[in-house]
Amino acid sequence: MRRKIIAGNWKMNLTPAEAVSFANGIKNKINTDTADVVLCVPAVSLAPVLEAVAGTHIAVGAQNMHFEDSGAYTGEISAKMLASLGVRYVVIGHSERREYFAETDEGVNKKALKALAEGLVPIICCGETLTQREQGITIDFVRQQVRIAFLEISAADAAKCVVAYEPIWAIGTGKTATAQQAEEVCAAVRQVLAEIYSADTAASIRVQYGGSVNGGNAAELFNMPNIDGGLVGGASLKPEFEQIVKYNG
Ligand code: PGA
Repeated sequence: MRRKIIAGNWKMNLTPAEAVSFANGIKNKINTDTADVVLCVPAVSLAPVLEAVAGTHIAVGAQNMHFEDSGAYTGEISAKMLASLGVRYVVIGHSERREYFAETDEGVNKKALKALAEGLVPIICCGETLTQREQGITIDFVRQQVRIAFLEISAADAAKCVVAYEPIWAIGTGKTATAQQAEEVCAAVRQVLAEIYSADTAASIRVQYGGSVNGGNAAELFNMPNIDGGLVGGASLKPEFEQIVKYNG
């Protein structure tokens, strides 16, 4: 039985002081008994939010990392730096990074390999554009993203990864995929993972849905057989996040 995992992606929001105040406000209301809960916060807020949630079961994640250990990469942060702070997760290949910062499937793969080597859990993002959905190539496209992301990752490491299926047309638009649409692609992600590894490995990898998840739609989405929780943007910065985490009531 896979444990659900619900991650808030705060994106480029809140100053460190605001982040601490928000984390302090929700930390005792978040129920971590039934799901793993992760707050993916801006880099400057990682240390203060880690301190704010210390003593709870809420984990902290970064929103990006570099695939090298160190070197002349101005402005970048390595997986080792994140791990040394106590960060446990890292979002990799979010569609906003692919679109605005030219991230590629190959780069996503390098980052995932490095994250795993440093003991971080990568949350590997994939998902189609509206045009691709209309062209009927969603499944083929997402399968290819997943295949490349997992190149050279061992089965043991793959089992630790989280995949976030996020249709780009549903991100920040208020247009959620229906539970059936989301389930169809999450099942296809699991199928490709079973082809790369084995049914057993695929069954242990958690696949999230992301894209306008809110307190009203979380239960229907997260109760689908192949959806193991969500990557939540806008609603993760609202008190509603608490409801999303306890989606079944
Ligand atoms: P959204 O963002 O929930 O605001 O649609 C999701 C994401 O980008 O991870």
